[in-house]
Amino acid sequence: MRPGHLLCAAVMAALSQPATADVHIVPRPASVELSKGQFRVNEDTAIAFESGWPEAKALAAYLQSVLQPATGFAFRVSPLDKADVSANTIVLARLTQDAGAEAYELQVDSGGIRIAAPQAAGLFYGIQTLRQLLPPAILSDALVESVPWDVACVNIEDRPRFAWRGMLLDVSRHFMSMETLKKCIDTLALHKMNSLQLHLTDDQGWRIEIKKYPKLTEVGAWREETVIGHASKKPVKYDGKRHGGFYTQDDIRELVAYAQERFVNIVPEIEMPGHAQAAIAAYPELGNTGETLPVHTTWGVNENIFNAEESTILFLQDVLEEVLDLFPSTYIHIGGDEAVKKQWKLSPAAQARIKELGLKDENELQSYFIRRMDTFLTERGRRLVGWDEILEGGLAKGATVMSWRGVKGGVAAARAGHDVVMAPNTHTYFDYYQGDPALEPLAIGGNLPLDRVYRFRPIRSTFSEEEAAHILGVQGQLWTEYIATPDYLEYMAWPRMCALAEIAWTPQDLREYADFRQRLDTHTQRLDAMKVNYRKLDD
Ligand code: ACM
Repeated sequence: MRPGHLLCAAVMAALSQPATADVHIVPRPASVELSKGQFRVNEDTAIAFESGWPEAKALAAYLQSVLQPATGFAFRVSPLDKADVSANTIVLARLTQDAGAEAYELQVDSGGIRIAAPQAAGLFYGIQTLRQLLPPAILSDALVESVPWDVACVNIEDRPRFAWRGMLLDVSRHFMSMETLKKCIDTLALHKMNSLQLHLTDDQGWRIEIKKYPKLTEVGAWREETVIGHASKKPVKYDGKRHGGFYTQDDIRELVAYAQERFVNIVPEIEMPGHAQAAIAAYPELGNTGETLPVHTTWGVNENIFNAEESTILFLQDVLEEVLDLFPSTYIHIGGDEAVKKQWKLSPAAQARIKELGLKDENELQSYFIRRMDTFLTERGRRLVGWDEILEGGLAKGATVMSWRGVKGGVAAARAGHDVVMAPNTHTYFDYYQGDPALEPLAIGGNLPLDRVYRFRPIRSTFSEEEAAHILGVQGQLWTEYIATPDYLEYMAWPRMCALAEIAWTPQDLREYADFRQRLDTHTQRLDAMKVNYRKLDD
């Protein structure tokens, strides 16, 4: 037993308090040893950081900023070599052993708290765990009085199972404010999620300012109206209200910086060659028919796709050039899904292009298109990610596959030696219903209750070790055709994203639904404190 544990036990005996309740952390850490007793955070508690480690200094300020609002305490911050760490201090220290980039250790004894990590990301995740060891009210942004800010004596060693722990947010179908995105990033960070894919372009709206092609947002960011109710319901009715918006390049820089401070990487998605109607509405020469199209006003797969002319490929590479300037992400998503080939079949220009390039058919033309983007991104030190349709007609050399039509595409890609993010509609489409459709608000369809999400296993038992190593991780999808407001977005995302976070972080052998469900009873109090409009749990 460590001395700290003995001290805890002694204090406990002296105060003769009941034993500390079990800890309820989501996602569940790799190893938790609970001992008796607790540390009480009070108005004199200080924060100390590893001297000479600037990121630890920044994280000490972050820790102070997340503990101050609810407690009202000052939390004096100083470097370790200047601090009196004999007692009542939360220490952020360097862990010299190489436990992994995102690993951390957290020890609480009655004298203080120590979070140690080899790298800054680990310190950040240790801080998230500490927030969950405190009473849920710690997550309130307003002062909460009369709460004893007790932390159970505990020894945690933790690290993530997967490197890609993601959420996709579709800001094309419904534009979401900067405030909504920041709250979303904060909530993801609490769950140790580290990736936010922004679906920035689609038929119904182009949402990112591109300086070289201003009409993409002048025209493409606005649609005249939106279908009311489910798009499959006839007769189709429209609301007659203009909808739109876009992020300026300054907005994007602000958002990327905000996410970076929370160890969330933003993966931009620029769709091609399908889901292109908003761009074609802005620049009709990018299409196949020469027709002037409106930004699309209803939902569903659309046959208006980019043409495959050299000028269009160069246009899209110009767009990507500006995207690369804004997003430091190694991974750049180019969509690639649901590109209906009808217009390419009918277009003499597309057929001539297939001949000129010596290709067999339209699938190979799509593959050529994606390969050009792969080469472009690879030359710039980035990596292409695309939906599993990019397997059709031959996979580009450096491509990472996001498997959405079940796991089939992901399995095939891993077998072929490509990296994979598992994002199957069978388990990770959080635009699907999570309960009886008769009792739930309108959704796109499907049936994806919490327990089904939780039971998803990204790595099949039939995978070889090498194939398993190609599974980078998992992602939960929030497509927003039927999600028009921040409240409804939160309702669809949480607590299903809690389940996804646990798939992404927790060792498989520690994952058990009943145990997760029990921890959620505490965890939803945290979401309450953060004013997240999660869906209430079923009994
Ligand atoms: C997708 O849901 N079309 C990726």
